[in-house]
Amino acid sequence: MNAQPRRVEHRQTDKGSVPVYTTAVVEQPWSTYTREDHATWAQLFERQQTILDGRAAREFVENQRKFGMTPHAIPKFDELNRVLRRATGWELIGVEGLLPELTFFDHLANRRFPVTWWIRKPEQIDYISEPDLFHDLFGHVPLLLNPVFADYMQAYGAGGVKAHGINPEALVHLTRLYWYTVEFGLIRQDDGLRIYGSGIVSSKGESIYCLESHAPNRIGFDLKRIMRTRYRIDTYQKTYFVIDSYEQLIDATRPDFTPIYAELANQPSIPAGNVRPTDTVFNRGTGEGWATDGDV
Ligand code: CO
Repeated sequence: MNAQPRRVEHRQTDKGSVPVYTTAVVEQPWSTYTREDHATWAQLFERQQTILDGRAAREFVENQRKFGMTPHAIPKFDELNRVLRRATGWELIGVEGLLPELTFFDHLANRRFPVTWWIRKPEQIDYISEPDLFHDLFGHVPLLLNPVFADYMQAYGAGGVKAHGINPEALVHLTRLYWYTVEFGLIRQDDGLRIYGSGIVSSKGESIYCLESHAPNRIGFDLKRIMRTRYRIDTYQKTYFVIDSYEQLIDATRPDFTPIYAELANQPSIPAGNVRPTDTVFNRGTGEGWATDGDV
């Protein structure tokens, strides 16, 4: 049997038509994965391994090895959890797909990382518009073994619960931080810029583009600047932000954001591709190939 995700409905939002799933935690139906599902995992895993050699952050590669993830079969959440619980106290939970914001934040605040249990179909190998098992597992899970990053993710969840209670603008500002760090972050390591963002490591094209293309900006991490910056959901990013260390990330985000949200409320957002005089610029993008509209 090939189990299917249970979509409840589609909802129109400012980000287009978004699937709505049950918010329940589900047992990973591992025995229902087909040979095709395992083959999809294998193909994606092997392809990204090759591309990420010399491109992904050191910790990403090391931790992936510690988990014992291999191309041979879709990993079992239970087995990954044995490693993860012992290392950082995090645990993976199976879900049907994207969760409502507050549910998602609450899981993170309690060191539970939701992983979509189903994997994309072969025709979606190169592009899928919503997170699937490959993105969630391959992309997000390795860094949960890093103690500092693990704490950052929990703090983000708690911060999300708080921002949710402030106002929608606070949530927009916080979401941009997640986008430009957890999903699309770069880190400066001894041997050059490396990828740690999950949205990049799970994408063949963007793994190369974000580091090697002259088109996008690569700019030093700056909390308020990031919170004001719009982003792309249907093209590669126009700007990537670079951290020096995970400590920098957690230190910069430790202060109470409440006064920061209040301060930012009066400031206009920054288009995704803009460079500002105060930016630390590693690469000023040429802008080649950029869409002229569509920043969210
Ligand atoms: Co993600």
